Amino acid sequence: MGFSKAIITSGPTREWIDPVRYISNASSGKMGFHIAEEIGRWIPEVIYIHGQVLEDYRCPSGSKRISVETTSEMKDAVLSEMMGDTILIMAAAPADFRPAESKESKIKKEDGSEILLLELVKNPDILKAVSSEISEREISGCCLVGFAAETDFLEEHALGKLKSKNLDYIVGNYVGKNEKGFGEVETSIVIYSSRGKVAEIGPLSKEAISKKIVEFLKTDTSNAFVRS
Ligand code: PMT
Repeated sequence: MGFSKAIITSGPTREWIDPVRYISNASSGKMGFHIAEEIGRWIPEVIYIHGQVLEDYRCPSGSKRISVETTSEMKDAVLSEMMGDTILIMAAAPADFRPAESKESKIKKEDGSEILLLELVKNPDILKAVSSEISEREISGCCLVGFAAETDFLEEHALGKLKSKNLDYIVGNYVGKNEKGFGEVETSIVIYSSRGKVAEIGPLSKEAISKKIVEFLKTDTSNAFVRS
């Protein structure tokens, strides 16, 4: 299978509560950045769609860069870049929820109340939206790769996401506990394919892991890969 385009998403998204506060997470953009750098050796056109990543992870060499802020913006950017023969790798950590209302003025804390209730609404799921779009529009030759960031039960949750998001591959990794997952850490991952293949990689630096993820995808998709 030959892909003509790769889309890599990276980093966290931000959902504003008021002009000075937002909901986000600790993703640095490191994993997505190294995947984008590595995949450029295999696929000619690389699109790097990123949220608020650290400065070092903003500009992978050889990629076209699109900066977004919210999960909805990331979804729109990904959908507008999807075409036939594209591999999408979602290493980003998009915020799953956003405030039902983003206040125009800073929320004041001087009203004597000890509690602030925040109503959140669910954000769109980018991978599910892409998966529906490619089947509705009959876009062929695409491959969807998700990441599953888990604090527990990696295999169970990763396989659940592989199925519910209708993906070809999911890369499971532990986050949150014992400084795992986010930022400048060595990490271990497990890649699960929709055809039942499993590959365990690490612990290694994210740079080394990214190389191995790209090598795995290159080899595994070269054998008459067709999206199931
Ligand atoms: O950036 P680093 O500091 O290097 O950290 C890397 C990482 C831990 C962020 C990365 O390895 C990782 O696991 N990224 C996925 C984080 C995540 O959001 O996982 P999730 O299990 O909530 O989501 C599953 C998949 O759905 C992911 O591919 C995610 O990008 C995607 N998603 C999530 C929410 C959403 N609204 N739409 C999505 O498509």
